[in-house]
Amino acid sequence: MNTIDNLKGLNGKKILVRVDFNVPLKGTEVRDDNRVVAALPTIKKLLSEGAALVLMSHLGKIKWGKVDDAEIAKEKEKNNMEYVFPVLAKHLEGVTVKFCPVTSGEELKNAIASLKAGEVLLVQNTRYEKGESKNDAKLSAEWASYVDGFVMDAFGSAHRAHASTYGVPEILKKEGKPVALGYLMEKEVKNLGACVKGDVHPYLAILGGFKVSDKIKVIDSLLKKCDKILIGGAMAYTFLKALGKKVGHCPVEDDQLEYAKKCYESGKILLPIDNVIADGFDNYHEENIKVVAQGEDIPEGYQGLDIGPKTEELYRNEIAKAKLIFWNGPMGVFEDAHFQHGTIEVCKAITENTEAFSVIGGGDSAAAAKQFGYANKFSHVSTGGGASLEMIENDGHLPGIDVIG
Ligand code: 3PG
Repeated sequence: MNTIDNLKGLNGKKILVRVDFNVPLKGTEVRDDNRVVAALPTIKKLLSEGAALVLMSHLGKIKWGKVDDAEIAKEKEKNNMEYVFPVLAKHLEGVTVKFCPVTSGEELKNAIASLKAGEVLLVQNTRYEKGESKNDAKLSAEWASYVDGFVMDAFGSAHRAHASTYGVPEILKKEGKPVALGYLMEKEVKNLGACVKGDVHPYLAILGGFKVSDKIKVIDSLLKKCDKILIGGAMAYTFLKALGKKVGHCPVEDDQLEYAKKCYESGKILLPIDNVIADGFDNYHEENIKVVAQGEDIPEGYQGLDIGPKTEELYRNEIAKAKLIFWNGPMGVFEDAHFQHGTIEVCKAITENTEAFSVIGGGDSAAAAKQFGYANKFSHVSTGGGASLEMIENDGHLPGIDVIG
């Protein structure tokens, strides 16, 4: 792997490090600094080699489409990288950390030019540039012209071929300048790589979440590699309906019924055998929460919001036998105390199986494991949701990895 350990002669060199500081915000406050912390080993290593670092990341989404200037200004205010700056500065105590409020032009050029060895410049949200998500050639060329090398450490964004993740390293590489993967990328590629390779058996995948249609490619890929796939979350009801079960008011993707049936016929899919249901999603009545036992239908007006106790037992037994586990998507509405039991039991069962190599593919399941105090007991918790799924789907290939070579 082409990592920063191969980079030599960095003293005084300006290195653009693409980090993923797309952190959750509550107003101007960073709610979870995990992604900043995850980038620190790379940042500290490069600083110890005497490099001057230009850190770039996107933050949230800016809807450029049909909105007018005032709305774009509002979007920009909401997704202002300046809110992340104090968090980064706190973690890099003793290092000179500066903020550049613009993403292109003379001000950025001068801020980078005046950066000294051992200093860090955090640049405003890359998505303030319309050309970022389009991998605009002019924007990539401008950013590339300001630096001497590039390090990719934004695993969460490695599935995006954007200017800051793809265009810049592509140009610098062609110019013979150093490009490499950072330590976070190295760790993600190695650990998720075990799930991509899937040569340890029994290999179990646990998939949850809302839609089957979001997970088609990953299900196809996992069906080839895994011995079994346990299904939970709202997507389970599309599978159950496909098998002819009555699912009451559960959200179902009718256009995926055929696909779900075909997957089930592989013999590798396990579905909930009982469900915790209620008479609504966020407007249910507590007295109407109940368990629908094995074989019973979900009545009209009700929907499933968690797996039931028999399913927990079934899944626990499968998890206990596995040697490799990939988990993406909670079993129920884990944010609500009434419907988090299934997800907690899955966390518990996975982490009790100390023989297994266990990987959480980012997103909501990573948030759930953290919330319930299990995150540090997994072999690996990925920092990328979409990226980890695409990595499984594309046999380990992501644009942000492949471009580094
Ligand atoms: C993420 O949070 O999944 C990554 O930062 C990618 O964000 P994006 O989906 O807005 O590109």
